Amino acid sequence: MPGDKSISHRAIMLCALAVGESRISGLLEGEDVLATAAAMRAMGATVERLGDGEWRVCGVGVGSLLQPQAPLDMGNSGTSTRLLMGLVASHPIEATFTGDASLSKRPMGRVVEPLSKMSAAIESSDGGRLPLTVRGASPAVPITYRLPVASAQVKSAVLLAGLNTPGITTVIEPVPTRDHSERMLAGFGAELSVEVGTDGTRTIRLVGETGLKPQEIDVPGDPSSAAFFIVAALIVPGSELVIENVGLNPTRAGLITVLRAMGGSIEELNPRQVGGEPVADLVVRHSALKGVEVDPALAPSMIDEFPALFVAAALAQGRTVTSGLDELRVKESDRLSVMAAALTLAGARVEEREDGLVIEGTGGEPLEGTRSSGRPVATHLDHRIAMSMAVAGLASRQGVEVDDTRPIATSFPAFEAMLDGLTR
Ligand code: S3P
Repeated sequence: MPGDKSISHRAIMLCALAVGESRISGLLEGEDVLATAAAMRAMGATVERLGDGEWRVCGVGVGSLLQPQAPLDMGNSGTSTRLLMGLVASHPIEATFTGDASLSKRPMGRVVEPLSKMSAAIESSDGGRLPLTVRGASPAVPITYRLPVASAQVKSAVLLAGLNTPGITTVIEPVPTRDHSERMLAGFGAELSVEVGTDGTRTIRLVGETGLKPQEIDVPGDPSSAAFFIVAALIVPGSELVIENVGLNPTRAGLITVLRAMGGSIEELNPRQVGGEPVADLVVRHSALKGVEVDPALAPSMIDEFPALFVAAALAQGRTVTSGLDELRVKESDRLSVMAAALTLAGARVEEREDGLVIEGTGGEPLEGTRSSGRPVATHLDHRIAMSMAVAGLASRQGVEVDDTRPIATSFPAFEAMLDGLTR
């Protein structure tokens, strides 16, 4: 599997803030991560590609980011936008963020609110959207912020702003989300502590204005990219697939828990640590899946994997019920309505509810596919819709056509070649 997208963004940002030379291997070279690399270059860091996934970064030091000379084009990437807004918020610089049609619809108010409390001045377009300009505060004001939505991007934006803020910045997380920022900040030598309460609430405290030390980082493979191949192997009769280098951080591994509960055969081999994260190779075999009710508490640990899960559910025996997924409506697309429409077009039985989908599976019978409908699936600039529906096509009579595969390059440029290689 190619490098983890979340970890790749953070690796570039933190290397660019450490004084001196860092090396990254296994970096995901998708468009989203390249947008982060370009932004860090525009703010003074040297970010160079040495070879396949091998990168060299010379950082400027916390507090020394330079004023970018042009708007920062974030493309399709919400992670780049929200995390970089955090970095800019506590530096004495001003940056304008722009993005594509999908990103320009996504809510930024969730980061504008805490960063404004830290004294950044932020002017956004209507509804708290891009284009948006952040004028950083110097010094910024440390805050204690309780996350109103379970969002690793909001948590990370506040922590990254806290790096150049005097005093202690505190984030309280009632529901745990991916913890790559905390792990990596600690690895770079930041003074950071995480306290877990009896009810599972996590309190993260970061001491500001301490330097970061350059690192050599190995980026583990992305479980969110592996998800498409895991589901493909489960639903295509006769499959047995070894997927190497899959990150298994518990804050990311919810899909595997749910697929196993559906009867999926997923074995872990060769468990190891890569870049401070648990990793294994997976052996996935075709399985007779059964529908389940998905515990909404698992949602944050599989938030990007629901499109793939919906495809598995469409092929399972019986009904799969998901709920508590309001956040899916503000991803690269509204993933509840877009997946409901896409799967229905391909012949699945799907009911869209306010906060989830209910899917009545075929019991292993292939889906009809899209050809007879005479139109392709509409992917709405969402890479994960395109990849999920490509996988659905493998378990369909007529095949599934998607209208636009270009967004796949944002997170998984090798996807089509890999899928093609497997199905020949
Ligand atoms: C991410 C956090 C999640 C996820 C996104 C990557 C991150 O977003 O959907 O793909 O790297 O922090 P939210 O913070 O909006 O849940």
